[in-house]
Amino acid sequence: MIDLRNITKTYDMGSVQVQVLKGITLHVDEGEFLSIIGPSGSGKSTLMNMIGCLDAPTTGEYYLAGREISTYNEKQLSKIRNKKIGFIFQKFNLLPKLSAFENVELPLIYRGMNSRERKQLSMEALKKVGLSDRINHKPTELSGGQQQRVAIARALAGDPPVLLADEPTGNLDSKSGSDVMNLIRQLSSEGKTIVLITHDSEIAKEAESTITIKDGLLLNNMTNLF
Ligand SMILES: Nc1ncnc2c1ncn2[C@@H]1O[C@H](COP(=O)(O)OP(=O)(O)OP(=O)(O)O)[C@@H](O)[C@H]1O
Ligand SMILES: [Mg+2]
Repeated sequence: MIDLRNITKTYDMGSVQVQVLKGITLHVDEGEFLSIIGPSGSGKSTLMNMIGCLDAPTTGEYYLAGREISTYNEKQLSKIRNKKIGFIFQKFNLLPKLSAFENVELPLIYRGMNSRERKQLSMEALKKVGLSDRINHKPTELSGGQQQRVAIARALAGDPPVLLADEPTGNLDSKSGSDVMNLIRQLSSEGKTIVLITHDSEIAKEAESTITIKDGLLLNNMTNLF
């Protein structure tokens, strides 16, 4: 599903160039649940942005669902991103003026879906995360755990095959965090391909396997025993 070949990313900071990813080769099968762990500044979010087609690599090749996308322009990237990838962020990234329902519906509007179909899929996704009774609440009227569940519903509504989660429990108390992790595990058992990024080894162990990133390089791949 995800196939990165010798990906590098260099940021041009005026007089100096900073190489943040130094040659990443990574393969994630369809239905696999992988976590990537590493210290702050090691390149985790940069790598997630590459996998999520939010940013283009400096060099290297990236195949997503069999398509070579390193050469895609911004418009092609946003289209494949909308279809193939659901994002879950540490800070939820919900739009504050929109209700839970409207936040979930938004990616489906970008996709050009009619309102009847949008309503059906959005309501289904909100039901799945246990928020059918909060659809008209704005983000500020929801707890952190509920906001993250709205964000997960938004990631799920369009039924993308891949979910990318960057520190999804980082802003949550332990109870809401474990609710979110239970939901992510359930989605994995339903067949989603999941890449979970974290600096927390307890969270990383929830995945089937874990890769360590340090200083822009992947170190080892280990299978987690349950
Ligand atoms: N747009 C950018 N321009 C320049 N440098 C950047 C940019 N984005 C990230 N970096 C640098 O790349 C390095 C890795 O950043 P990244 O956000 O990927 O780390 P991270 O592993 O996600 O850290 P954290 O655990 O703190 O979220 C950092 O040193 C950062 O300063
Ligand atoms: Mg980060």
